[in-house]
Amino acid sequence: MARRILVLGSTGSIGTQTLALAREPESGLVVIGLAAQRSWEVLLRQVEEFRPLAVALEDSDAADELRPRLPRGVTLHAGPGAAATLARELDYDVAVHGIVGAAGLAVSVEVLQRGLVLALANKESLVIAGELLMALVREHGGTLVPVDSEHSAVFQCLRGEDLGRVRRVILTASGGPFRESSASEMAAATPAQALAHPNWAMGPRISIGSATLMNKALEVIELHHLFGLGPERIEVVVHPQSIVHSLVEFVDGSVLAQLGPPDMRGPIHYALHHPDRAPAPLVGFDLDLFRRLDFCAPDRARFPALDLGFRCVVEGGDAGAALNAADEVAVAAFLEGQISLVDIPAVNRAALDRRKGDASSFAALLQADQHARAEAQSEVQRRAAAPSTTHTSR
Ligand SMILES: NC(=O)c1ccc[n+]([C@@H]2O[C@H](COP(=O)([O-])OP(=O)(O)OC[C@H]3O[C@@H](n4cnc5c(N)ncnc54)[C@H](OP(=O)(O)O)[C@@H]3O)[C@@H](O)[C@H]2O)c1
Repeated sequence: MARRILVLGSTGSIGTQTLALAREPESGLVVIGLAAQRSWEVLLRQVEEFRPLAVALEDSDAADELRPRLPRGVTLHAGPGAAATLARELDYDVAVHGIVGAAGLAVSVEVLQRGLVLALANKESLVIAGELLMALVREHGGTLVPVDSEHSAVFQCLRGEDLGRVRRVILTASGGPFRESSASEMAAATPAQALAHPNWAMGPRISIGSATLMNKALEVIELHHLFGLGPERIEVVVHPQSIVHSLVEFVDGSVLAQLGPPDMRGPIHYALHHPDRAPAPLVGFDLDLFRRLDFCAPDRARFPALDLGFRCVVEGGDAGAALNAADEVAVAAFLEGQISLVDIPAVNRAALDRRKGDASSFAALLQADQHARAEAQSEVQRRAAAPSTTHTSR
C-alpha cells in the first residue's frame, strides 16, 4: 500500500531530495502535504507536480501570493504556526521533517503527539528538547527515525542489538572545507568559502555548521538523546570521504558501520520506508568511491565547537537550546559579514555560559532559546565592534 507523506521544508535541500524520491516510478509514496516558509513559487511548482491535499506557508505575504494561484481543492494554511497546523490536521503515514532551525520544534511535537512516524532531519528539535521529545515517543507510541546520515547509520547498525552491549558510537565528520586550513586562514574565511562543502550540497545553516564542526556538536547532542548514550560512549572521528556514515563498537570489540556514497537520498529513503527496506535507484558499493577510506582525530584546538556539544551533553537542561539558538544568531551574523567564522564558537560559548538553566517544559526551553538569542546578539555586537576581530564580508 502507498505511503502518504507530509514533506515539511519541501523547498529546501532535504525537502527537494525527498520529493525526488517520491517522483521515482513505483516509489510507493504519495505526497499528501507540503510546507515551507516563504518560497511560494517553488512550492507552487511542487503543488502542480504532486497535487497534495494541503500546503502551509509560514510567511503570510508569501501565502497571499500563492493563494490565488493554487489549484482548486488544495487547502492552504498560512502564517506563523501553519506547518504545525498541517502536521496536526492532515492524515499521513510519515512526516519528513526538513525545516531548518528551532522553528521545527513545534512541528516535531505535533507529529509525535499523534503517535505517527517522524523522519527527522531537523536535529534542532532534539538538540533543544531531546528529553521531552523522547518522552512523547514513549507516551504516544510514535516512531522517530533519524534522517541525519550519521544517526541513520547508527540506527541501522543498532537494529536488533542491545544498547547495553554498545561500548561506544563513533560519529564521522567530513571535516568540512577547512579541514586542512590554518587557524589564520579560518579566521579570514569568507561566507562563500565556508558555504562550499567538499562532499555535500546542503542549506546554509548546516553548511556553516560543517565548516566550524558546530554541526557535529549538535549531532553529538542528537545522538545522546536518540540512543540514551552518555558522553563517555560518544566519539567523533574525521573521515574526509564521507563514505562511512558512522560506526558502532560493541563490548566484544566488533565494529559495525553503515557505508554509502554521500547522498542524503539514502537516509531519507531508509526513513520513509522503515522498517522495510524498499528498492531504490541509489548507488551502493562503488570501487572508485570506496577505494580509500581515511580516518583521523579532529583538531579540537582549531574546532573548539566540538567540545561545546559534549559540554551540553554533560550539563543537560537548557544547554542544547542555548547552544542551538546562539548558533543560529552567530551563523546569520557571519553570513552578513559582522563576525568571522572563528567568532561563531566563541559567541556560542558566551551564550552557554549565561544560560538560565530551566528545562522543565517546552515553554521553558523556548524561553531559554530567546534568552540565548539575546545573549548571542550582544556578544556579536561586542565582537563586531572590537578592533581585533577579523571579519570579512561576502
Ligand atoms: N541538507 C542536508 O543535506 C542535511 C543533512 C542532514 C541534516 N539536515 C538537517 O535538515 C534540516 C534542513 O536542512 P536543509 O539543508 O534542507 O535546509 P534548507 O535547504 O535551508 O531548507 C530549509 C527548509 O525549511 C523551510 N523553513 C525554514 N523556516 C521555516 C519555518 N519557520 N516554517 C516552515 N518552514 C520553514 C524552508 O522554506 P523556504 O524555502 O520557504 O525558506 C526550506 O524549505 C536542518 O535541520 C539540517 O540540519 C540537512
